[in-house]
Amino acid sequence: MKIFHNKSEVSDYVQHLKANDDTVGFVPTMGALHQGHLALVKKGLKDNNFVVVSIFVNPTQFDNSEDLIKYPRTLDADVALLKTVSETQIAVYAPTVEDIYGDNVQSESFKFDGLEKEMEGAFRAGHFDGVGTIVKRLFEIVTPNRAYFGEKDFQQLQIIKKLVELYHIDVEVIGCPIHRDPDGLAMSSRNTRLTKEHREAAPFIYKTLKSAKIKFGTKSAKYVTEWVERQFEKEPLLELEYIIIADTSTLKPVKRKSNKKTYRAFIAAYAGDIRLIDNIALN
Ligand code: PAF
Repeated sequence: MKIFHNKSEVSDYVQHLKANDDTVGFVPTMGALHQGHLALVKKGLKDNNFVVVSIFVNPTQFDNSEDLIKYPRTLDADVALLKTVSETQIAVYAPTVEDIYGDNVQSESFKFDGLEKEMEGAFRAGHFDGVGTIVKRLFEIVTPNRAYFGEKDFQQLQIIKKLVELYHIDVEVIGCPIHRDPDGLAMSSRNTRLTKEHREAAPFIYKTLKSAKIKFGTKSAKYVTEWVERQFEKEPLLELEYIIIADTSTLKPVKRKSNKKTYRAFIAAYAGDIRLIDNIALN
């Protein structure tokens, strides 16, 4: 398996493939890979001849320095996992901070038609500037035909689609369904840091989202939101940060339901000091 640490090497590699009429899929990650990432890689290999996986814990998207320090870094295990899918059709780009940022570890400032102000944008200052900066740079370096992102970070997915539109970047952005453990917990690299107790409590998030979806069939968004808040009050191991029912395209909280629109419910909750997010399509 090819492993690049340098942007010019990965750029040359992809240019060479594209010159031979091969197509290249791209899966940007922060490592600590799990089956959810592998599902994106497999989809990428179904649609393209080759896939590049970037593994880079991007410092500019963390609003919490403790979370950045503790974020799992497991390059050898990640490469071993990717090799179980393919040794020849997958390449890894694992840059240093310097390769991406030089000596200026700063994010650019973005406006994504207001998408950046909602939910994660409101609760994690500067997060989407960091995500926009790294994804734009990675797209410029890797120049893939298609890029794959999980719907667990649904707001991020919508923002990256907007980034591509606003900057006329020649890549097709493809959203992929959330991958869950058998008990319903959405797969996340952060799950490995949960204590046994918090891991056992965490599936409550998806269980509540599924019930919220049923209630949304007959009740208002306000009713369902308040119902979810009451459920979390009864669960001492999880602290709800937000439950928001939003319009899928604008991500603005819904005031009055319309059957011409689609909605999703979004939750962020703390299990101890680990922040978990999840969401569900409601209609
Ligand atoms: O979703 C992630 O893992 C990160 O936000 C991404 C897209 C790799 C950018 O650092």
